[in-house]
Amino acid sequence: MRSILVSGGTSTLGRAICERFVKAGERVYCGYASNRETADELAASYGPSLIPLHLDIQDAGSIASSLQELEGLDVLVNNSGVFSVFTPTELLESEWQRIFDINVTGLFRLTQKCIPLLRARKGSIVNIASINALHPGFGGTSHYDASKGAVVAYTKSLAKELGPSIRVNAVAPGLLKAPYLDNENPLRQHYEERSLLQSLVEPGEVAKVVQLLSDCSAMTGELVGVDCGYLMG
Ligand SMILES: NC(=O)c1ccc[n+]([C@@H]2O[C@H](COP(=O)([O-])OP(=O)(O)OC[C@H]3O[C@@H](n4cnc5c(N)ncnc54)[C@H](OP(=O)(O)O)[C@@H]3O)[C@@H](O)[C@H]2O)c1
Repeated sequence: MRSILVSGGTSTLGRAICERFVKAGERVYCGYASNRETADELAASYGPSLIPLHLDIQDAGSIASSLQELEGLDVLVNNSGVFSVFTPTELLESEWQRIFDINVTGLFRLTQKCIPLLRARKGSIVNIASINALHPGFGGTSHYDASKGAVVAYTKSLAKELGPSIRVNAVAPGLLKAPYLDNENPLRQHYEERSLLQSLVEPGEVAKVVQLLSDCSAMTGELVGVDCGYLMG
């Protein structure tokens, strides 16, 4: 049984990743920053293999004390990430900093503290990027796009620096199916029209790729798109 840490484990995608690993018989630490209620609900559904872990990646001290609770670490999934929409002229510097502090610096903070644990087990890291890193400019997303571009560059750089002891890969999901995207939502309609599979992305399909990257001993420094063919459309 491997130990897997998923940051933002209660998010739309985080839940699917936690579920996938629990069903595969792994021990999953489901990181939450504010959403303890959902973490506890997931623990009640999945039993003792899913362990809620308070993990605020904006607070280095909190990360260090949270990691003390782990019984070793085989896989780190850097899934926490936040999004907002502002035109480049409306965007306040404080919002740019908030997005970067979570999506980039927070990811770095957690990764750096996990490296010794992962090295001890020849572990791996899977970073959640976005198609926005590859196809920026959806409108109002320049700050988010830049943050996810940084995640991709960091992934590739880390893969070089940490090999051969730790593999590092990233996933670039397209627009995820989520309750707030109803049939009338224009973003959903645009996504379904353009993507080759005419569909939003099921979080569970992204979770399959995360699991594959965590397992496949021949992959490092890769960015794998899971977007229903949006970028090809
Ligand atoms: N949704 C999409 O269509 C889409 C598409 C491509 C890529 N992605 C990426 O996929 C990942 C998950 O997205 P999502 O839509 O599933 O997320 P979400 O539902 O919007 O939830 C955001 C997550 O980030 C966590 N978070 C916020 N601040 C944090 C902090 N200071 N420390 C630790 N965690 C923090 C939240 O934890 P708490 O709730 O516990 O505070 C929550 O779990 C993100 O990296 C996102 O950029 C999403």
